[in-house]
Amino acid sequence: MALEEGTEVSVSEAQIAVHWREEEYYAPPAKFIGQANASDPSILARFAEDNFPECFKEYADLLTWDTYWHTTLDTSDPPFWKWFVGGRLNASYNCVDRHLAANRNKAALIWVPEPEEEETRAVTYQELHRRVNEFAALLQDFCGLQTGDRVTFHLPMTPELPIAMLACARLGIIHSQVFGGFSGTACGGRIADSGSRVLVTMDGYYRNGELVDHKAKADEAVSAAREQGQEVDKVLVWRRHHGRYSSRTPMVEGRDFFVDEVLPRYRGRSVEPVSMPAEAPLFLMYTSGTTGRPKGCQHSTGGYLAYVAGTSRYYQDIHPEDTYWCFADIGWITGHSYIVYGPLALGATSVMYEGVPTYPDAGRPWRIAEDLGVTIFHTAPTTVRMLRKTGPDEPAKYGYHFKHMTTVGEPIEPEVWRWYHQTVGKGEAVIVDTWWQTETGGFLGSTLPALQPMKPGSCGPGVLGVYPTVLDEDGNVVEAGSGKAGNICIRNPWPGIFQTIWGQPERFVDTYYRKYCRDEKSTDWHDWPYFAGDGAVEAADGYFRILGRIDDVINVAGHRLGTKELESAVLTVEEVAEAAAVPVMDELRGRVVEMYVSLKPGYTASTEIEQKVAGAIDSEIGKIARPKNVWIVADMPKTRSGKIMRRVIAGISNFADVGDVSTLANPEIVEDIRHHVHSRKVESGELPRELTAEELAEIKAFGRTD
Ligand code: WT7
Repeated sequence: MALEEGTEVSVSEAQIAVHWREEEYYAPPAKFIGQANASDPSILARFAEDNFPECFKEYADLLTWDTYWHTTLDTSDPPFWKWFVGGRLNASYNCVDRHLAANRNKAALIWVPEPEEEETRAVTYQELHRRVNEFAALLQDFCGLQTGDRVTFHLPMTPELPIAMLACARLGIIHSQVFGGFSGTACGGRIADSGSRVLVTMDGYYRNGELVDHKAKADEAVSAAREQGQEVDKVLVWRRHHGRYSSRTPMVEGRDFFVDEVLPRYRGRSVEPVSMPAEAPLFLMYTSGTTGRPKGCQHSTGGYLAYVAGTSRYYQDIHPEDTYWCFADIGWITGHSYIVYGPLALGATSVMYEGVPTYPDAGRPWRIAEDLGVTIFHTAPTTVRMLRKTGPDEPAKYGYHFKHMTTVGEPIEPEVWRWYHQTVGKGEAVIVDTWWQTETGGFLGSTLPALQPMKPGSCGPGVLGVYPTVLDEDGNVVEAGSGKAGNICIRNPWPGIFQTIWGQPERFVDTYYRKYCRDEKSTDWHDWPYFAGDGAVEAADGYFRILGRIDDVINVAGHRLGTKELESAVLTVEEVAEAAAVPVMDELRGRVVEMYVSLKPGYTASTEIEQKVAGAIDSEIGKIARPKNVWIVADMPKTRSGKIMRRVIAGISNFADVGDVSTLANPEIVEDIRHHVHSRKVESGELPRELTAEELAEIKAFGRTD
């Protein structure tokens, strides 16, 4: 249904106007079904609600326990759920040692350096075991670290990162990896918040053909942490090239140590894995809230590991003979769960790539896939869009064959999904669109690849043992098939859920549970739905379509428009590679939409394309959403993880401050866009107006990315 301007529609605040049309189903290929880990529909019954929570025994049984647990789920202190209570295990043992007997010589990790002339390196389970033990010995003896201490990593995508994680896990030390692309200051804030006195970093790494000076950030991080009251007494510096220092910053005497110089002291040392309670924290993963202190999401040992092992088995469909490549950064939860812990718990071969997708050209990922015989490929829509933009014909040039592909991290536009399916997957691969969050440890929404058909743009139903629901502002269920959107919530706890926000238990309860809690005294989990903060629609078939963060909605004259559906409409225009919708303050209509687009190579900006973009919104959504302006730009401001920083372009569109741009992958683009947009606005007579504090706050908070 397309809305006409002026149509009377009453939309409650919780409802986001939904104009998306239903997409067709795609069946999984027969060849995939024939080999899938979950091909018998009885699995759906095993994980049905009447078997909850005992159904998760099936996931826990994928692990080796030192002491078996006695209580599957303890709800006595809601919403601080406890899984597999009484159980003891070690995550490092589960990901490394237990695979030695049968698979000592199998590659645990295959590392692809960015420079193409540098050799790809396989780390066997045997080598991983040795290196994890030696580094654990160093953490214990050289750094004096103990079970329960926190250690911050600021590491790039090299094998030293999973080695360091597993070394901590061996000792029950809580690791906190900060994404390598984050600034030293951001890292320092997380060091302080977690109370780490050891920082593990690397001198440099390759990115887009350049050896980046990374150690410089460690010095900033240490001083930022000090300003916030946390002293760092040791900085361990791995060297990207052994014995050769690649940073221009001096090493600080008595504080900084080259790991390759200290490690030989621990050669051949073995460290007993510490048997940890299932409920012991395994790691922290920081995520930005829209305001304030970063949130250190605390993940457990037993529940988390069981959950990522189970979902890796059934949703990633990893078999012993697969070569599995999750093209994400381990600095994000995706990498923790689905490069390191999930695949290694299953004894799989996990590929890691150091660099950017398009270096030295857009054929690189497909060369890697061909060279290594990758069978399972996992990445984010932003990467798919980038590869579609810069190398639409590249996949066909390479002889790889994927059986399975994943998309994760944001809603994927159906147009982009179809390119992924047809061109990247060559029509042979099944796709799972996995919806989840840093907080949730593992997948929440996805199709079971052999048993449930795919539907472009929808993640699918709740995953095994996870029962989502869409609620309105008052907590009423928005019926499936009603075409109405609301807030997606998970009705039940699941083993991968984070335990708390490090040091901020009140904020944990407030942010995720307070809104829909039916009775704060109740110890029945039914009274404590998990509030995810995403808008979603549930179709009649029980599939969920995620509209994006609730904060990403643009309210035009009372119609709440999801940015994603606006962008999806624009992606139907042939010339468009990427699109981002932002709100502009408007006297009459509250907010109006401005649309930023970048074009595929070979097209140049023209008023004709601008009109096509506006026309696509008219026809797909309605005139109400017609953008005030369409800005064709060379590129969007993006974070290093590839998410478009909407608050930056929203700032530009509103003549407001764009805020901190230091975490952008391409900060130079901001001035170009500002110049282009402001000069055209001024030409057309649009003048900056004074914004209220509320309006400024809204712009600043637009989009979750920070
Ligand atoms: C937010 C979480 C999931 C790990 C990486 C991102 C959005 C995530 C999907 C998807 C639609 C998605 C949601 C969610 N999101 N996956 N498949 N379809 N939206 O983790 O940084 O914590 O972000 O990403 O809005 O709330 P994150």
